[in-house]
Amino acid sequence: MKSIEEQIAELKEKRGAVIVAHNYQLDEVQAIADFTGDSLELSRKVATLPNDVVVFCGVHFMAETAAILSPEKTILISDPQAGCPMADMITADAVRRLKAEHPGAKVVCYVNSPADVKAESDICCTSSNAVKVVESLGNAEVIFVPDRNLGSFVAGRLGRALILYNGFCPTHERIRDVDVLELKAKYPGALVLAHPECNRPVRELADELLSTGQMCRFAQASDHKEFIVATEFGINYRLRNENPGKTFHPVNPDRAVCPNMKKITLEKVLWSLQDMKHRVTVPESIACRAAGAIQRMLEI
Ligand code: 13P
Ligand code: SF4
Repeated sequence: MKSIEEQIAELKEKRGAVIVAHNYQLDEVQAIADFTGDSLELSRKVATLPNDVVVFCGVHFMAETAAILSPEKTILISDPQAGCPMADMITADAVRRLKAEHPGAKVVCYVNSPADVKAESDICCTSSNAVKVVESLGNAEVIFVPDRNLGSFVAGRLGRALILYNGFCPTHERIRDVDVLELKAKYPGALVLAHPECNRPVRELADELLSTGQMCRFAQASDHKEFIVATEFGINYRLRNENPGKTFHPVNPDRAVCPNMKKITLEKVLWSLQDMKHRVTVPESIACRAAGAIQRMLEI
Protein backbone atom coordinates (compact mmCIF):
# COMPACT_ATOMS: atom_id res chain seq x y z
CA MET A 1 0.00 0.00 0.00
CA LYS A 2 1.39 3.36 -1.03
CA SER A 3 1.60 6.09 1.56
CA ILE A 4 -0.70 9.07 1.15
CA GLU A 5 2.30 11.25 0.32
CA GLU A 6 3.26 8.85 -2.51
CA GLN A 7 -0.30 8.83 -3.85
CA ILE A 8 -0.36 12.63 -3.85
CA ALA A 9 3.01 12.80 -5.62
CA GLU A 10 1.84 10.36 -8.32
CA LEU A 11 -1.44 12.14 -8.97
CA LYS A 12 0.22 15.54 -8.90
CA GLU A 13 2.54 14.35 -11.68
CA LYS A 14 -0.37 12.92 -13.69
CA ARG A 15 -2.36 16.16 -13.42
CA GLY A 16 0.64 18.40 -14.08
CA ALA A 17 -0.28 20.12 -10.83
CA VAL A 18 1.71 22.12 -8.33
CA ILE A 19 0.97 22.34 -4.60
CA VAL A 20 1.47 25.61 -2.76
CA ALA A 21 0.96 26.01 0.98
CA HIS A 22 0.68 28.93 3.37
CA ASN A 23 3.11 29.07 6.31
CA TYR A 24 0.26 28.25 8.76
CA GLN A 25 -0.67 24.92 7.16
CA LEU A 26 -0.33 21.64 9.05
CA ASP A 27 3.29 20.36 9.15
CA GLU A 28 2.51 17.38 6.90
CA VAL A 29 0.80 19.61 4.32
CA GLN A 30 3.77 22.01 4.26
CA ALA A 31 6.02 18.98 3.85
CA ILE A 32 4.39 17.88 0.56
CA ALA A 33 4.11 21.41 -0.88
CA ASP A 34 6.29 22.53 -3.78
CA PHE A 35 6.28 26.06 -2.37
CA THR A 36 5.45 27.57 0.99
CA GLY A 37 5.13 31.25 1.72
CA ASP A 38 3.13 34.20 2.96
CA SER A 39 0.10 35.67 1.17
CA LEU A 40 2.12 37.96 -1.10
CA GLU A 41 4.77 35.35 -1.95
CA LEU A 42 2.15 32.75 -2.86
CA SER A 43 0.04 35.03 -5.04
CA ARG A 44 3.19 36.14 -6.89
CA LYS A 45 4.42 32.56 -7.21
CA VAL A 46 1.20 31.12 -8.63
CA ALA A 47 1.11 33.76 -11.36
CA THR A 48 4.59 32.79 -12.57
CA LEU A 49 4.27 28.98 -12.42
CA PRO A 50 3.92 27.08 -15.71
CA ASN A 51 1.41 24.57 -14.26
CA ASP A 52 -2.24 24.75 -15.30
CA VAL A 53 -3.45 23.16 -12.07
CA VAL A 54 -2.65 24.59 -8.64
CA VAL A 55 -3.73 22.97 -5.38
CA PHE A 56 -3.82 25.92 -3.01
CA CYS A 57 -3.36 24.86 0.62
CA GLY A 58 -4.51 27.88 2.55
CA VAL A 59 -7.74 29.72 3.25
CA HIS A 60 -10.30 30.73 0.63
CA PHE A 61 -9.31 34.38 0.05
CA MET A 62 -5.77 33.24 -0.79
CA ALA A 63 -6.96 30.77 -3.44
CA GLU A 64 -9.40 33.41 -4.70
CA THR A 65 -6.58 35.95 -5.09
CA ALA A 66 -4.61 33.36 -7.09
CA ALA A 67 -7.70 32.72 -9.27
CA ILE A 68 -8.11 36.46 -9.92
CA LEU A 69 -4.46 36.83 -10.94
CA SER A 70 -4.39 33.62 -13.00
CA PRO A 71 -7.91 33.11 -14.40
CA GLU A 72 -6.62 30.70 -17.04
CA LYS A 73 -5.39 28.27 -14.34
CA THR A 74 -7.44 25.75 -12.41
CA ILE A 75 -7.03 26.80 -8.78
CA LEU A 76 -8.25 24.11 -6.39
CA ILE A 77 -8.93 24.43 -2.67
CA SER A 78 -9.34 21.05 -1.05
CA ASP A 79 -11.84 22.33 1.54
CA PRO A 80 -14.04 25.22 0.41
CA GLN A 81 -15.11 25.72 4.05
CA ALA A 82 -11.60 26.90 4.92
CA GLY A 83 -12.49 30.57 5.16
CA CYS A 84 -10.98 33.48 7.05
CA PRO A 85 -13.24 34.99 9.75
CA MET A 86 -11.50 38.33 9.39
CA ALA A 87 -12.26 38.38 5.65
CA ASP A 88 -15.89 37.60 6.48
CA MET A 89 -16.13 40.66 8.76
CA ILE A 90 -16.18 43.07 5.79
CA THR A 91 -18.65 43.42 2.91
CA ALA A 92 -18.65 45.40 -0.33
CA ASP A 93 -21.67 47.32 1.02
CA ALA A 94 -19.73 48.37 4.10
CA VAL A 95 -16.92 49.68 1.87
CA ARG A 96 -19.41 51.59 -0.30
CA ARG A 97 -20.87 53.16 2.86
CA LEU A 98 -17.42 54.22 4.08
CA LYS A 99 -16.62 55.73 0.68
CA ALA A 100 -19.87 57.71 0.78
CA GLU A 101 -19.02 58.96 4.29
CA HIS A 102 -15.47 59.95 3.23
CA PRO A 103 -15.66 61.17 -0.36
CA GLY A 104 -12.22 61.44 -1.93
CA ALA A 105 -10.60 58.95 0.47
CA LYS A 106 -8.62 56.04 -0.99
CA VAL A 107 -9.53 52.52 0.10
CA VAL A 108 -6.68 50.20 1.04
CA CYS A 109 -7.83 46.65 1.47
CA TYR A 110 -5.87 43.91 3.21
CA VAL A 111 -5.84 40.79 1.00
CA ASN A 112 -7.68 38.99 3.81
CA SER A 113 -10.97 40.08 2.24
CA PRO A 114 -13.53 38.80 -0.29
CA ALA A 115 -13.11 39.52 -4.03
CA ASP A 116 -16.04 41.98 -4.14
CA VAL A 117 -14.42 44.04 -1.36
CA LYS A 118 -11.18 44.14 -3.36
CA ALA A 119 -13.23 45.25 -6.36
CA GLU A 120 -14.47 48.28 -4.36
CA SER A 121 -10.93 49.18 -3.25
CA ASP A 122 -8.25 51.34 -4.81
CA ILE A 123 -5.39 49.09 -3.84
CA CYS A 124 -4.71 45.90 -1.86
CA CYS A 125 -1.94 45.22 0.62
CA THR A 126 -0.58 42.31 2.59
CA SER A 127 1.09 42.34 5.98
CA SER A 128 4.49 42.50 4.27
CA ASN A 129 3.84 45.63 2.20
CA ALA A 130 1.02 47.52 3.98
CA VAL A 131 3.25 50.42 5.07
CA LYS A 132 4.64 50.89 1.55
CA VAL A 133 1.19 50.66 -0.03
CA VAL A 134 -0.28 53.38 2.20
CA GLU A 135 2.86 55.49 1.73
CA SER A 136 2.42 55.26 -2.05
CA LEU A 137 -0.88 57.13 -1.75
CA GLY A 138 0.83 60.32 -0.55
CA ASN A 139 -1.31 62.58 1.63
CA ALA A 140 -4.67 61.19 0.56
CA GLU A 141 -7.13 60.30 3.30
CA VAL A 142 -7.06 56.50 3.65
CA ILE A 143 -9.79 54.06 4.61
CA PHE A 144 -8.11 50.84 5.75
CA VAL A 145 -10.14 47.60 5.76
CA PRO A 146 -10.73 45.16 7.37
CA ASP A 147 -7.94 44.64 9.95
CA ARG A 148 -7.90 47.27 12.71
CA ASN A 149 -4.60 45.88 14.02
CA LEU A 150 -2.66 45.94 10.75
CA GLY A 151 -4.22 49.36 10.10
CA SER A 152 -3.12 50.80 13.43
CA PHE A 153 0.35 49.27 12.94
CA VAL A 154 0.62 51.14 9.59
CA ALA A 155 -0.73 54.35 11.13
CA GLY A 156 1.90 54.11 13.88
CA ARG A 157 4.74 53.47 11.42
CA LEU A 158 3.74 56.41 9.24
CA GLY A 159 2.79 58.70 12.13
CA ARG A 160 -0.58 59.57 10.61
CA ALA A 161 -4.25 58.77 11.16
CA LEU A 162 -6.13 56.26 9.00
CA ILE A 163 -9.86 55.55 8.94
CA LEU A 164 -9.92 52.06 10.40
CA TYR A 165 -12.53 49.36 10.03
CA ASN A 166 -13.15 47.24 13.13
CA GLY A 167 -12.14 43.81 11.76
CA PHE A 168 -9.63 41.52 13.42
CA CYS A 169 -8.17 38.02 13.34
CA PRO A 170 -9.71 35.86 16.10
CA THR A 171 -6.61 33.66 16.18
CA HIS A 172 -4.16 36.51 16.69
CA GLU A 173 -6.56 38.07 19.20
CA ARG A 174 -5.93 34.99 21.38
CA ILE A 175 -2.28 35.96 21.73
CA ARG A 176 -2.14 38.16 24.83
CA ASP A 177 0.54 40.48 26.14
CA VAL A 178 0.66 38.46 29.39
CA ASP A 179 1.57 35.35 27.37
CA VAL A 180 4.45 37.21 25.74
CA LEU A 181 5.58 38.70 29.07
CA GLU A 182 5.64 35.25 30.64
CA LEU A 183 7.92 33.94 27.89
CA LYS A 184 10.10 37.03 28.02
CA ALA A 185 10.64 36.45 31.76
CA LYS A 186 11.51 32.80 31.09
CA TYR A 187 13.79 33.46 28.09
CA PRO A 188 15.19 36.97 28.64
CA GLY A 189 17.69 36.63 25.76
CA ALA A 190 15.05 35.81 23.16
CA LEU A 191 13.98 38.23 20.45
CA VAL A 192 10.20 38.74 20.11
CA LEU A 193 8.86 38.34 16.56
CA ALA A 194 5.17 39.23 16.16
CA HIS A 195 2.70 39.45 13.29
CA PRO A 196 1.08 42.87 12.78
CA GLU A 197 -2.34 41.21 13.14
CA CYS A 198 -1.58 41.02 16.89
CA ASN A 199 -3.27 43.60 19.09
CA ARG A 200 -1.43 46.73 20.24
CA PRO A 201 -0.23 45.52 23.70
CA VAL A 202 1.42 42.52 22.00
CA ARG A 203 2.84 44.64 19.18
CA GLU A 204 4.38 46.96 21.77
CA LEU A 205 6.33 44.04 23.23
CA ALA A 206 7.72 42.95 19.85
CA ASP A 207 11.27 43.54 18.67
CA GLU A 208 10.17 42.94 15.08
CA LEU A 209 6.73 43.09 13.43
CA LEU A 210 6.79 40.92 10.33
CA SER A 211 4.67 38.98 7.86
CA THR A 212 5.10 35.22 8.05
CA GLY A 213 7.47 35.21 5.06
CA GLN A 214 9.50 38.06 6.53
CA MET A 215 9.69 36.17 9.85
CA CYS A 216 11.23 33.16 8.10
CA ARG A 217 13.81 35.30 6.29
CA PHE A 218 14.56 37.34 9.42
CA ALA A 219 15.15 34.26 11.60
CA GLN A 220 17.57 32.81 9.04
CA ALA A 221 19.54 36.02 8.59
CA SER A 222 19.65 36.98 12.29
CA ASP A 223 22.65 36.34 14.56
CA HIS A 224 20.19 35.73 17.39
CA LYS A 225 19.74 32.12 18.44
CA GLU A 226 16.48 32.31 20.37
CA PHE A 227 13.09 33.75 19.43
CA ILE A 228 9.63 34.18 20.92
CA VAL A 229 7.12 33.79 18.10
CA ALA A 230 3.80 35.65 18.40
CA THR A 231 1.72 34.39 15.51
CA GLU A 232 -0.21 31.31 14.40
CA PHE A 233 1.50 28.12 15.57
CA GLY A 234 1.98 26.55 12.09
CA ILE A 235 4.89 28.82 11.26
CA ASN A 236 7.07 27.03 13.78
CA TYR A 237 7.41 24.07 11.40
CA ARG A 238 9.31 26.16 8.85
CA LEU A 239 11.22 28.16 11.45
CA ARG A 240 12.52 24.99 13.13
CA ASN A 241 13.28 23.16 9.86
CA GLU A 242 15.17 26.05 8.34
CA ASN A 243 17.10 26.92 11.51
CA PRO A 244 18.28 23.72 13.23
CA GLY A 245 20.70 25.59 15.52
CA LYS A 246 18.11 28.08 16.78
CA THR A 247 15.28 27.86 19.32
CA PHE A 248 11.72 29.09 18.80
CA HIS A 249 9.22 29.57 21.62
CA PRO A 250 5.67 29.82 20.25
CA VAL A 251 3.36 32.10 22.23
CA ASN A 252 0.27 30.29 23.47
CA PRO A 253 0.70 27.29 21.12
CA ASP A 254 -2.59 25.65 22.18
CA ARG A 255 -4.75 28.67 21.43
CA ALA A 256 -2.91 30.49 18.64
CA VAL A 257 -4.15 28.01 16.06
CA CYS A 258 -6.26 29.02 13.05
CA PRO A 259 -8.94 26.31 12.77
CA ASN A 260 -9.57 27.20 9.14
CA MET A 261 -5.96 26.78 8.08
CA LYS A 262 -6.07 23.37 9.76
CA LYS A 263 -9.08 22.24 7.70
CA ILE A 264 -6.69 21.34 4.87
CA THR A 265 -5.41 17.81 5.45
CA LEU A 266 -3.39 15.35 3.36
CA GLU A 267 -6.52 13.26 2.68
CA LYS A 268 -8.37 16.29 1.33
CA VAL A 269 -5.39 17.25 -0.85
CA LEU A 270 -5.45 13.75 -2.33
CA TRP A 271 -9.22 13.89 -2.95
CA SER A 272 -8.76 17.30 -4.54
CA LEU A 273 -6.36 15.84 -7.09
CA GLN A 274 -8.53 12.76 -7.64
CA ASP A 275 -11.76 14.69 -8.27
CA MET A 276 -10.23 17.99 -9.46
CA LYS A 277 -12.23 19.76 -6.76
CA HIS A 278 -13.00 22.42 -5.55
CA ARG A 279 -12.25 24.92 -8.28
CA VAL A 280 -12.19 28.53 -7.09
CA THR A 281 -13.59 31.00 -9.62
CA VAL A 282 -14.59 34.65 -9.43
CA PRO A 283 -17.26 36.25 -11.69
CA GLU A 284 -15.50 38.24 -14.39
CA SER A 285 -17.20 41.55 -13.56
CA ILE A 286 -15.78 41.37 -10.00
CA ALA A 287 -12.49 39.71 -10.94
CA CYS A 288 -11.35 42.41 -13.36
CA ARG A 289 -11.93 45.22 -10.82
CA ALA A 290 -10.36 43.21 -8.00
CA ALA A 291 -7.39 42.38 -10.25
CA GLY A 292 -6.79 46.11 -10.69
CA ALA A 293 -6.45 46.60 -6.91
CA ILE A 294 -4.14 43.57 -6.60
CA GLN A 295 -2.01 44.56 -9.62
CA ARG A 296 -1.55 48.09 -8.25
CA MET A 297 -0.17 46.51 -5.08
CA LEU A 298 2.14 44.16 -7.02
CA GLU A 299 3.57 47.12 -8.93
CA ILE A 300 4.79 48.70 -5.67
P1 13P B 1 0.95 36.55 5.95
O1 13P B 1 0.70 37.27 4.66
O2 13P B 1 1.91 37.25 6.84
O3 13P B 1 1.36 35.15 5.68
O4 13P B 1 -0.40 36.52 6.78
C1 13P B 1 -1.55 35.90 6.33
C2 13P B 1 -2.52 35.68 7.40
O5 13P B 1 -3.62 35.25 7.18
C3 13P B 1 -2.11 35.98 8.74
O6 13P B 1 -3.10 35.63 9.62
FE1 SF4 C 1 -7.70 34.64 8.85
FE2 SF4 C 1 -6.46 34.86 11.18
FE3 SF4 C 1 -6.67 32.48 10.06
FE4 SF4 C 1 -5.04 34.36 9.03
S1 SF4 C 1 -4.85 33.35 11.00
S2 SF4 C 1 -6.44 33.05 7.91
S3 SF4 C 1 -6.25 36.20 9.44
S4 SF4 C 1 -8.37 33.76 10.80
